[in-house]
Amino acid sequence: MKHNEQFKREFLALSERYLAYGLSIDSLENAIRKPKRFNKNILLYSIVFLLIAILYGYNILHILSSLFINIRGIRCIVPNNYFVWEATRQISDCSFCINVSKPLIFNNISKGDFAPYAYTSKPVIIRNAFLHWPAMKEFDFEFFKKMYHENEEAYKSVDEECQFLHFKSDFTSLRDVFSMDQKRVTNEPGQKSWYVGWGNCHPEILSKMRKYYPKPHFLPDDCEMPSKEYVFMGYDAGATMHLDYINRLMWQAQLKGSKTWHIKAAPECEKQCNSLSFIVKPGDAILLDTRVWYHETTITPGQFSLSIQSEYG
Ligand SMILES: [Fe+2]
Repeated sequence: MKHNEQFKREFLALSERYLAYGLSIDSLENAIRKPKRFNKNILLYSIVFLLIAILYGYNILHILSSLFINIRGIRCIVPNNYFVWEATRQISDCSFCINVSKPLIFNNISKGDFAPYAYTSKPVIIRNAFLHWPAMKEFDFEFFKKMYHENEEAYKSVDEECQFLHFKSDFTSLRDVFSMDQKRVTNEPGQKSWYVGWGNCHPEILSKMRKYYPKPHFLPDDCEMPSKEYVFMGYDAGATMHLDYINRLMWQAQLKGSKTWHIKAAPECEKQCNSLSFIVKPGDAILLDTRVWYHETTITPGQFSLSIQSEYG
């Protein structure tokens, strides 16, 4: 049991690193599905895979990884971990997606009316839920740039514990993002498009952010909130298709720009369940069990998207 727990913890961390590389789950599926001729490499890969799994189970890889990080100053020793990720995912019973052909959509909603849906795995959109938040007006690229530039420790916290997700962008850190040329910030013609996300877990940063938005008014009083909240911002191609390895349900506040979500169930549910696409607009809330729904996002062309994401449960 102890080793199982240990393995689970390592596995969650590993998966987060995988997401940070911006790799798509589609690439994984394609790799698995394409029939390939058997060769010696398959045997070799299998042995390496098993070895990695065993090393993780006994925490040995973590120790080696830490050692390597300290020596070389880099963050990840095993970047291509998606085989472990997919291979160890629990097989879905598909009950969460059967007969779901569209999200539940509410036009704002009270805590009482939302209660029956609070812990569902069905996708929920609440239109105009956050129009009253000061964050709608105050949050932009410059707001976060200034906040992080004033706090060296905050940059370090993203590098070391909060997580930085560059998706398809070429940035390696949040500092890179906030150092980009102004023309690229505003996605001027000829500039390379970008989209990133990062966890805010530095207490000072989180407390400053939360001055501009409260806990969503429709969530149950007793639900737990995390000590890390994500910001996603940028243009065009958003997050690539993936599952989240998190402990609770997810809510996201779309503050600027419109974003289209594409969600689908696990491959074993493909025959019974539909893939869905829907758009969220500024002020909307989306609640989705991103632990079971694979999801990717795209930003409406020409728009800058900014959203806050958190968990509850
Ligand atoms: Fe996600």
